[in-house]
Amino acid sequence: FYIKIYSQQMKKQTIKEILQDYKKVLHHDITVYGWVRTFRANRFIALNDGSTINNLQIVVDFENFDEEIISKISTASSLKIVGEVVESQGAGQAVEIVAKKIIILGDNFTEERDKTILQPKKHSLETLRDQAHLRFRTNLFGAVFRVRHAVSFAVHSFFNKNQFFYINTPVITGADAEGAGEMFGVTNFDLNNIPRDEQGDIDFAQDFFGKKTNLTVSGQLEGETAAMGLGRIYTFGPTFRAENSNTTRHLAEFWMVEPEVAFNNLEDNIDLAEDFLKYVIQYVLDNCKDDLDFLDKRFAEEQKGKAEKDRAKEGLIEKLQNVIAKRFKRVSYTEAIEILMNSKENKKGKFQYPVENWGTDLQSEHERFLVEKHFECPVVLFDYPKEIKAFYMKLNDDNKTVAAMDVLFPGIGEIIGGSEREARLDVLKQKMAEMHVDEHELWWYLDTRKFGSVPHAGFGLGLERLVLFVTGMTNIRDVIPFPRTPKNAEF
Ligand code: 4AD
Ligand code: MG
Repeated sequence: FYIKIYSQQMKKQTIKEILQDYKKVLHHDITVYGWVRTFRANRFIALNDGSTINNLQIVVDFENFDEEIISKISTASSLKIVGEVVESQGAGQAVEIVAKKIIILGDNFTEERDKTILQPKKHSLETLRDQAHLRFRTNLFGAVFRVRHAVSFAVHSFFNKNQFFYINTPVITGADAEGAGEMFGVTNFDLNNIPRDEQGDIDFAQDFFGKKTNLTVSGQLEGETAAMGLGRIYTFGPTFRAENSNTTRHLAEFWMVEPEVAFNNLEDNIDLAEDFLKYVIQYVLDNCKDDLDFLDKRFAEEQKGKAEKDRAKEGLIEKLQNVIAKRFKRVSYTEAIEILMNSKENKKGKFQYPVENWGTDLQSEHERFLVEKHFECPVVLFDYPKEIKAFYMKLNDDNKTVAAMDVLFPGIGEIIGGSEREARLDVLKQKMAEMHVDEHELWWYLDTRKFGSVPHAGFGLGLERLVLFVTGMTNIRDVIPFPRTPKNAEF
């Protein structure tokens, strides 16, 4: 009983709640908190608390307040306001608050503010990135990060509904799951005084873990061991790649969602990926209406300055609806190579990397050609040449391809990568030998193929690439709060 009263007294309403349930508070005095977006005519405050893109209008009869208080109300200052909820005279909002008491919570250091992105004018995305710690205060980044939250929530919701268990795999590991050598080492050595053995090599036996370790590039291998007991699992955590690719699609630290399912084959895996992506996109459409409307308008404005050939065919919301409506196109690598080799673009030398033979790795220009020009819908490519994919993928009967799958999205390229796994111990060992993956390091992984090995499959979704897609943003640095990219770890 005590707790109930206490929590009622403590309950603060967000602006989102007030605007949604305004009938409950109409003609009552309430307390609101927020930051000033604008203060017009010494009378109208647009107040925002981050709960929604919508501002709450506060009406201030300045005659009733100290001049000092009025002088402190300006863009970026923070306020606590007590006032009466009344029907709004203006268009665009149902209610507004007539202020009775105004408390300045945070002064606004105007001179300093004016050197930041908090000054009230339009800023470029680059400028906003340089002040990533302040960009949460803007409409755009408020919308992006609320949508990012919804995407993450929908990820958990999808897997929970489908009886998957959330497994946390280690961030520090001795394994290189992708065998690509793109790892950030972890050590507690004093870098000015690294112990060496007789041969002069670094003596990792003396390091904290007694061996060489790194930040994980993927939780897959540990995830597989969990799936071999729990059946359906997924991981969802930060992953790290020291690839020096300064593109709008790569981060050195990104969040990956990796389901792994016992008894699934490649086709089941593709079905799961398609259902999963559609569920998350539908969830965002259903639950992020105000933010999506804002992002949709922004998306349309971005199109205006573009040459016709670069312009998107559809609006943001329309694009999301269309992706859900159609079945993804499923195409083998071999078919895709034929389409690419015979394309006008290839023959006229339009690709930076011409497609000349079966076996070449696809570049993002090729992926985007298939998705945006040829099929005009999301595409799932499968059965890739074994040489260009990771060691753990199931070798197909042709001995040339593996049961890999990549999901390619318009405007993004690869959004998901996955495969059916090689469940046969002897074949797996042979592939590891061919690809120079150390068997002894992965003894625990090989164990899963010794005790009741089963067919299984899984994939990895790059969370930021999905957030790029649903928000219509174009640079991956703008959909993660604190981007980590080459030469950038400022915040
Ligand atoms: O294709 P990748 O490398 O696959 C794996 O890591 C597998 N172990 C996944 C699995 O089967 N469990 O990465 C998966 C996805 C990519 O499709 C891409 O969306 C994203 O992770 N990704 C990146 N996102 C941002 N920055 C990077 N540097 C990324 N590298 C991969
Ligand atoms: Mg990949």
